[in-house]
Amino acid sequence: MSNQKDGLVLQVSDVRAEAGGVLLLELRDPQGAPLPAFEPGAHLEIRLPGGLVRHYSISNDCRERDRYVIGVGLSPASRGGSAFVHRSLRCGDRLETSAPRNHFRLDPGLDSYLFVAGGIGITPIMSMVQWCVAHQRPWRLVYAARSPQRAAFYDTLGPHGAAVRFHFDALCGGAALDVREALADVREGEHVYCCGPSALMDAVRTQGAHLPPERLHFEYFSAPAPSVEAAGPAGAFEVELRRRGLRLQVPPDKSILDVLEAHGIGVPCSCREGLCRTCETTVLEGEVDHHDYVLSQEERDAGRSMVICVSRARSPRLVLDL
Ligand code: FES
Repeated sequence: MSNQKDGLVLQVSDVRAEAGGVLLLELRDPQGAPLPAFEPGAHLEIRLPGGLVRHYSISNDCRERDRYVIGVGLSPASRGGSAFVHRSLRCGDRLETSAPRNHFRLDPGLDSYLFVAGGIGITPIMSMVQWCVAHQRPWRLVYAARSPQRAAFYDTLGPHGAAVRFHFDALCGGAALDVREALADVREGEHVYCCGPSALMDAVRTQGAHLPPERLHFEYFSAPAPSVEAAGPAGAFEVELRRRGLRLQVPPDKSILDVLEAHGIGVPCSCREGLCRTCETTVLEGEVDHHDYVLSQEERDAGRSMVICVSRARSPRLVLDL
C-alpha cells in the first residue's frame, strides 16, 4: 500500500458525473492493494494543490476494500477545493489523503434508522443505507434536493420504493422540505441521522427538539452562521501549556490556535471551523466553552478535550496537555 506517514496516496480510477453539479470519484491504491477499512459515515481528508485540505464523505458500501467512492458537489462559493476537483482532476491523478476517519458513526445496535439528507449531504448517508440493507436493518430516508437532475444517487435509491421519500424544491414551487412533517412520525427507538445544508440541519434540530438529544446525529460540511446567542461572549482568558511550562493570553478576537501559531507552536489543524476534529487537544484543567460541531454531548460534558480552533474558556484559565 502506498502509505505516507499516517496517510495514503490514492489514484483516481474513475470520475463520472452523478448528477448536476456532482462528481463521483473512485479512489484506489495505485498498486491495487486492499485499502484500510471504513465504517458508514466515514470521510477522507484530501490534500489538494495550493495547500488546500478538504473532507469528503465516502459513499460506497463499507464491505468493499478495493475502493473509496466520494461525491463532490461543485460549490458556487468554492475557494478552490470543489472547483479544482470538478475542473482539473482526471483519471490516473494521485491524491494524498488521510486514512478514513469517522465523526458521524452509525450505531449498529439501534431499532431503526431515519436518514434525512439534503443535496450533497446524501454521500455519507449512502454508505449508511447500504449498511442497513446488507444487515437487514429497518431504515427509511427523506432526501431533499433542488430537482431530480441535481439529486445524486437518484437512480440508485429509486428502487428502494417506499423506504425513500424524495422532496424536490423545483417541483414544489421552490418550497423547502417540510421538516416538521418529515419528523412527525419518528418511531420509538428510531434515531435520526442528518447531513445537508446548515438550514436543513438547523430545522431538524429545532423540529426534533422533542426527541432525546442522543437520538439526533449530525454531520456538518460547513459551519452554520453563528447566532448571537451561540457565539456568546468571547472574552480574554489564559491558556497554560503544561508540558511546555508556558502561559499565554488569548484575546477576545483570537482563537487558542491563532495564539499558539503566533508563538511558533504548531498544532495539526485543517478546517479551522470546528468541523474536523484535527486540532482536538486534551484539557487538564479549566472549563471549556465549546463552539465546535464534532464533539458529542457526552464528550462536552466530560470536559477532557476541546477543539482549539473555535472553542474557548468559561473559566479564567485553561490548562492544556501541550
Ligand atoms: S481544525 Fe478542524 S476542528 Fe479545529
